[in-house]
Amino acid sequence: GIGVSKLLKETGLTTYDPGFVNTAACSSAITYIDGDAGILRYRGYPIEQLAEKSSFLEVSYLLIYGELPTDQQLSEFTEWIRRHSLLHEEMRRFFDGFPRDAHPMAVLSSAVSAISTFYQDSLDPFDSEHVEISTVRLMAKVPTIASYAYKKSIGQPLLYPDNSLGYVENFLRLTFGVPAEPYEVDPVMARVLDMLFILHADHEQNCSTSTVRLVGSSNANLFASVSAGVNALFGPLHGGANQAVLEMLQRIQADGGDVRTFVQKVKDRQDGVKLMGFGHRVYKNYDPRAAIVKKAAQDVLGRMAKPDPLLDIAMQLEEIALADDFFVSRRLYPNVDFYTGLIYKAMGFPTKMFTVLFALGRLPGWIAQWREMINDPETKIGRPRQVYTGYSERNFVPLNER
Ligand code: ACO
Repeated sequence: GIGVSKLLKETGLTTYDPGFVNTAACSSAITYIDGDAGILRYRGYPIEQLAEKSSFLEVSYLLIYGELPTDQQLSEFTEWIRRHSLLHEEMRRFFDGFPRDAHPMAVLSSAVSAISTFYQDSLDPFDSEHVEISTVRLMAKVPTIASYAYKKSIGQPLLYPDNSLGYVENFLRLTFGVPAEPYEVDPVMARVLDMLFILHADHEQNCSTSTVRLVGSSNANLFASVSAGVNALFGPLHGGANQAVLEMLQRIQADGGDVRTFVQKVKDRQDGVKLMGFGHRVYKNYDPRAAIVKKAAQDVLGRMAKPDPLLDIAMQLEEIALADDFFVSRRLYPNVDFYTGLIYKAMGFPTKMFTVLFALGRLPGWIAQWREMINDPETKIGRPRQVYTGYSERNFVPLNER
């Protein structure tokens, strides 16, 4: 790859590759994907093993530092994060400035950028101590910010983190707990959410991660780069897909639950309708994460007293699509987001929070990729070229002659 780029430079040729479908912008030792075989590994470990046997903080350590932590390393990492979960008191007022119906992703990206103003003496991307403390601050404070964004949107008071709780448990209490009332964390819910965070933790050079790297390539600090990543994740073709899937399922339900008519609409490309949660730039096979999420959705929703009819609609959609030549010939399979929304809904999260949950999971991946980029001697400021299609030279026409 590096040879080709040198050759192109010398010959004055430019590659034209909209969407970077076939262009590597970096080398990376973090995540391996084989999209044809449906394989995903973090630092060599298969996603199935990590989802089953590991915890989110353990996986975060693995992504960021390259190896699974020892017992002592994990407890030090956990303890360090625990001690930084509080936001600066002044930051609490920040949340008052947004309208009640603000989308929590917009609040999250603004707040991630804003908290850096409290740490201006430790933002140097080339000072390893600054990078370590920024890493821990982000891992610790982003869940607090996410739950505050939610609390404000429903008009409830903000709670302080309870540092006797685990990472995910703390986030659940901050989100669903009420002051002066005990909050019992449901251990099944905590475990499933932890597992979903593991599944989202990294996915090599996706849109948001590439954004984090591109912004960071100008030597912007970790907070600024991650804030940009949150904004990239916001879009419905990326992290916003989990929200879009649930809205699609609800629309099908409201229209009488006729799944076949909806699939026909997608095939006819009526109003640009897509089967949200299907298709992936890299996976041309079943997304290995989707298989794990589907099983979790069946488990979590199976525990509910009243089954959610949307699960049935989702499973029918999958069955019909996987037997239909339109989807088969384009190699469109369910992606990670097809079933996650149903689990989040069962847990009590409002639809607007789904993409925020994706961001919480993806955070260690963004951090790991930013750190790898900063330490890579091959890194250059990201600066794509273009194919110019505008006018050739023309003379200025004075205003009174136009
Ligand atoms: N529903 C219907 N048709 C689809 C879908 C879909 N979900 N996805 C792709 N197609 C069709 C395209 O229209 C295209 O058809 P054509 O060749 O006849 O023109 C063909 O399949 C190839 O698709 P592309 O758009 O070229 O694929 P690309 O790699 O650019 O896009 C993407 C991938 C954005 C994920 C796309 O599949 C999509 O929009 N899916 C729905 C949104 C979604 O679920 N996003 C989440 C992605 S995963 C993530 O961020 C975690």
